[in-house]
Amino acid sequence: MKIESFLKDVGGASRVTAARREKFRKGSPIPEPEDPIRALSDALHPDKIRFIVTDVRDVSPTSKTWRLRSTDGHIPIFQSGQYVCFHLQIGNSVLNRPYSISSAPFESKCDNPFIEVTIRRNRPYFVPDYFFDHVKVGEVLWGSMPFGTFYYEPLRDSKNVVAIAGGSGITPFVSMAREIAAGWLDVNLTIIYGSVHSSDIVCGRELDEIDRKCDKVKVVHVMSDDPDWQGEKGFVNREIIEKYSGEDTTYMFCGPYAMYTFVEKTMKEMGVPAGKFRKDAIAQPDVSLIPGYPSDKKDEVYTIKVMRGIHEDIIQAAASEPVAVAVERAGIALDTHCRGGECGMCRSQLLEGEIFVSPIGDGRRRMDKELGWFHACSAYPMSDLVIKIPIL
Ligand code: FES
Repeated sequence: MKIESFLKDVGGASRVTAARREKFRKGSPIPEPEDPIRALSDALHPDKIRFIVTDVRDVSPTSKTWRLRSTDGHIPIFQSGQYVCFHLQIGNSVLNRPYSISSAPFESKCDNPFIEVTIRRNRPYFVPDYFFDHVKVGEVLWGSMPFGTFYYEPLRDSKNVVAIAGGSGITPFVSMAREIAAGWLDVNLTIIYGSVHSSDIVCGRELDEIDRKCDKVKVVHVMSDDPDWQGEKGFVNREIIEKYSGEDTTYMFCGPYAMYTFVEKTMKEMGVPAGKFRKDAIAQPDVSLIPGYPSDKKDEVYTIKVMRGIHEDIIQAAASEPVAVAVERAGIALDTHCRGGECGMCRSQLLEGEIFVSPIGDGRRRMDKELGWFHACSAYPMSDLVIKIPIL
């Protein structure tokens, strides 16, 4: 913007106002049915994407990667670290589940664009079971456009990134490593990846190949219970993190809650400034791990009256499960994205009763706290409730 002088600038602004008035005066009172800007915006940022599964492959004894193409051929731009939220109907339950995209952004911009998600099933889990047992090549899945704030941002983050991952928390960094190896992202990435046993490593072959071929990506595996492992052993600790950290580093974390509590404490001990430690949304853990959860209530079952518009439903909810899970199990649609209390998509209103709000990732605004709004994915019933959820 060029600044001329006070009078010229003010004069210019008033000429713009006059020109706009004139355009309004001449404009038709009938709304223009064609809105190319709106149409372009909707096409670039669709609410929902219809995906088709084009490939499923094993990436560890307990993990698979699903390759998905959009049926209209367009995949919105995203950054390594963002996720897609799948809208699923499993039996009578209507639910959403976010999965980090494990493919690289450049792969969604090529001639045959696709994204991939990688899911681990090391014990029975509702949604991973569904993917492993039912989502085959040719299956159609509905998902959101990519969301999330956990990605490398050159204006904020250092060029040296140490990624700390546990279990399936490796997937955002697989995406990032692919993007760097293909020359689309100029970052020096060291991945410190904690697993129990070498057979648990997700995408290990691919990561090790990138490590061999690309001098900007280094992968350090740390095994907590594998006597034959020749590399780093034990849990990811301060000594290991410092050993592989250089000057001016941004740390990024994705993994289970138990690992997060330890890594967060270690970051504080190392004096890492808050802005240099970034974490992905943490899924709510077992209630026994949530600080402050009243464990004497965990076996209780309560009744929730769920109101949305003119509809009212009465459902049952265990005190040990988030309100969102009880709502979804009852087949009531509730929009959720992060499932970790941060994004606010599941924001609902508490009209009667008591809830426990998990302090892990509590992203409520101050006014919401005061006025009784809560995030259903991270709130637990502590009595019978009356709640109001958004109409979808
Ligand atoms: S889904 Fe993000 S806050 Fe509940």
